[in-house]
Amino acid sequence: VYNCAEIVQVTDRGQLYLAGRDMSRVAIRRAARGHSLALATDERGIILEIGDGAEMQKKYSLSEFESTLDAKQGSLMPGFVDGHTHPIWSGDRVHEFALKLAGASYMEIHAQKGGIHYTVDCTHEESDEKLAESLVERLTLMRKSGTTAAECKTGYGLWFKDELRQLQILNSVKQQDIIEMSLTYLGAHAVPRGFVGTPDEYATKISDEDLPKLKELVDFDNVDVFCEKGVFEIDATKRILAKAKELDYELNFHAEELSCIHGVELGCALGARAMSHLERISDEGIAAMAATKAAAVVLPTTAHILRLKPPPVREMIQQGVIVALGSDFNPNAFCYAMPTVMHLACVQCHMSLDESLAAATINAAYSIGKSHRYGSIEEGKEANLILIKEPKWEHIIYQLGCHKDLIRSVIYKGKLVL
Ligand code: NIG
Ligand code: FE
Repeated sequence: VYNCAEIVQVTDRGQLYLAGRDMSRVAIRRAARGHSLALATDERGIILEIGDGAEMQKKYSLSEFESTLDAKQGSLMPGFVDGHTHPIWSGDRVHEFALKLAGASYMEIHAQKGGIHYTVDCTHEESDEKLAESLVERLTLMRKSGTTAAECKTGYGLWFKDELRQLQILNSVKQQDIIEMSLTYLGAHAVPRGFVGTPDEYATKISDEDLPKLKELVDFDNVDVFCEKGVFEIDATKRILAKAKELDYELNFHAEELSCIHGVELGCALGARAMSHLERISDEGIAAMAATKAAAVVLPTTAHILRLKPPPVREMIQQGVIVALGSDFNPNAFCYAMPTVMHLACVQCHMSLDESLAAATINAAYSIGKSHRYGSIEEGKEANLILIKEPKWEHIIYQLGCHKDLIRSVIYKGKLVL
């Protein structure tokens, strides 16, 4: 029954990190000097027991463990959960990075049919095989950086057929089980070029035609809308999200990034599980998120790249909002490394190291409805772990840009994958 067991020797100053269940604090446990720590998992990679190596070996009658890690002077942490990514696309936008550095704003580039539209065109031209190949490569790179679960959006198809294709490719790559994936339909990322009609008319097409048809054809978990002034405003957003709710999807959408149009209050009224960005969230929005327990998925790399004022994370935490982190990996914000995201969350958004870790693990898992399955090292949860080569786990945030040198091993569902 127990086909996998991990032994991790945590000696002397080594720390074992266990995230608390209370969504905001972290608990640090230290293994006793000279002792080994064992994780017994079942064949699905679920942790059955965490205990002393020698005792566990006896209890499970194991002659040897499936894998043994030397964790001396190291820290064992939960794999990171990335609460917001756009991983399937073709066509980088390094040329726009230069334009932005020269002063162009995100919306100016978008209005000139660059930005999302540029990526949509490049993605449309790409073959299924190439899109799948680059998706696999990106998920593998995320995993090397310690991410073992991510929310993954479409949004570079827009037209029904192209969005369906993106969801099909996401589903087929999900079968490879590189990391855990929560899939999100983002047909309302922009009004596609060539659509004759207003954003409200496009939103009606999504709610009345595309969403119900997609539900028949392909699996996904969440529905997203780029709710923003000049993109999809309140009425259009409401139309799509209300239909998504009716069809039993989780609502997880972009809100209040560049302007405050009170998308958050709408999301809370509709029972959204998560909202992202929130640079311009109102005080009423913060109160509504705290009351409804919607997760605030903060994306510090995007705020950094677009030089936006960071979201008011301190106020959110003080008011009791569940704050999660996401990389927002996309061609506008090319970063999939959660340690970098956590560093920016601490420095730019004034989060503490502990808050940042909880946000990048258990709270991000909560934002995709999976905190009962992963996001902390606990019996009954997936054995998704990373081992870093510093006795203080805080080094993963402190050493900016050095995470590839720090991460010694990655364990995914009880198997050593790095
Ligand atoms: O979360 N704001 C909308 N969507 C993405 C950007 C997508 C793009 O520019 O390609 C975001 O930042
Ligand atoms: Fe995004």
